[in-house]
Amino acid sequence: MAMASLTTSSSIALLNKSLLPNRSSLSSSTPLYRFSSPPSSVRSRFTSASIRAVALEPELNETPSSDIKETETVETQVFACPVCYEPLMRKGPSGINLQAIYRSGFKCGQCNKTYSSKDEYLDLTVTAGFDSFNEVKPITTELFRSPLVSFLYERGWRQNFARSGFPGPDEEFRMAEEYFKEAEGGVLVDVSCGSGLFSRKFAKSGKYSGVIALDYSENMLRQCNEFIKKDATFDSSTNIAVVRADVSRLPFPSGSVDAVHAGAALHCWPSPTNAIAEICRVLRSGGVFVGTTFLRYSPSTPGLSDLFNRILQNYNYLMQDEIKDVCTTCGLTDYEDIVQDSFIMFTARKP
Ligand SMILES: C[S@@+](CC[C@H](N)C(=O)[O-])C[C@H]1O[C@@H](n2cnc3c(N)ncnc32)[C@H](O)[C@@H]1O
Repeated sequence: MAMASLTTSSSIALLNKSLLPNRSSLSSSTPLYRFSSPPSSVRSRFTSASIRAVALEPELNETPSSDIKETETVETQVFACPVCYEPLMRKGPSGINLQAIYRSGFKCGQCNKTYSSKDEYLDLTVTAGFDSFNEVKPITTELFRSPLVSFLYERGWRQNFARSGFPGPDEEFRMAEEYFKEAEGGVLVDVSCGSGLFSRKFAKSGKYSGVIALDYSENMLRQCNEFIKKDATFDSSTNIAVVRADVSRLPFPSGSVDAVHAGAALHCWPSPTNAIAEICRVLRSGGVFVGTTFLRYSPSTPGLSDLFNRILQNYNYLMQDEIKDVCTTCGLTDYEDIVQDSFIMFTARKP
């Protein structure tokens, strides 16, 4: 309630002032490309990561709920250890939904480390379970860990992106769905989901066997849970999971994920190259990556001031060609993009 008074346009404008790219430096002639479905030659059959039941492991007992029944199974393969990438064993109810995940305990057989839901999300960061150590990340990550920014994000902050050419959540969702057609029925990870703006849309669409809302910010994930709880169309069995993880250390086995979405995120990542390499690692063959971000420079902007601007900017705003280069260098193929002012939506797939 107290925070509601902060949702004025002036406070949001102030917060955004130094954070959004200067539109005036961008060419208004930057074309708006139309989406086209990927060629059928590059489409591959959907092969979602399967969930395999294995024998119960008695020592895996650090689950948040004490009433897990002996008959419940230990599963592998949905989540992996963020340290060694071994699939985590799971004890508890099966499925990718809030209740099942909350009542499950996870353990890495290799590292002997356990993971469970803390507050309202499953913490799968390397630092999960640490009491005394709170790793401080670059400002672009830390900014979104604040309760204020997390609270404001869907209450005015995100709407400001329209000034830079973002079509808006409904249209961005529609555009992304065009590219995710091949991944329908599989697991979609919404990396850097923030307060779950798109994760909720993907889950509601009913087109995926599981949607994983993933972010590094504890407060964004709390907001995500709040929005889910307030939304009458969700119940505890809706196939959405809320997970805390670092994009550079994704807690999924290699080649196991059908689709990765990363809305308005690349510019916030400490290392876009490490992040995209990691996304490529977790995608299965034929898996689809769709991302949006702000372009720092349009192709027509002279490059003279690039270095100077990079030093001044905390965000990793890339150029259109750089995004393509990073995707292809990381092994992704069939790159396409759509640009409108400094907004870019790009897609590529794992060969
Ligand atoms: C601008 S918000 C985007 C939210 C949402 N996807 C959207 O389209 O509006 C960027 C998000 O990136 C997240 N982020 C920043 N650094 C991250 C990291 N290292 N790993 C995972 N997420 C990160 C932030 O916490 C924040 O929620």
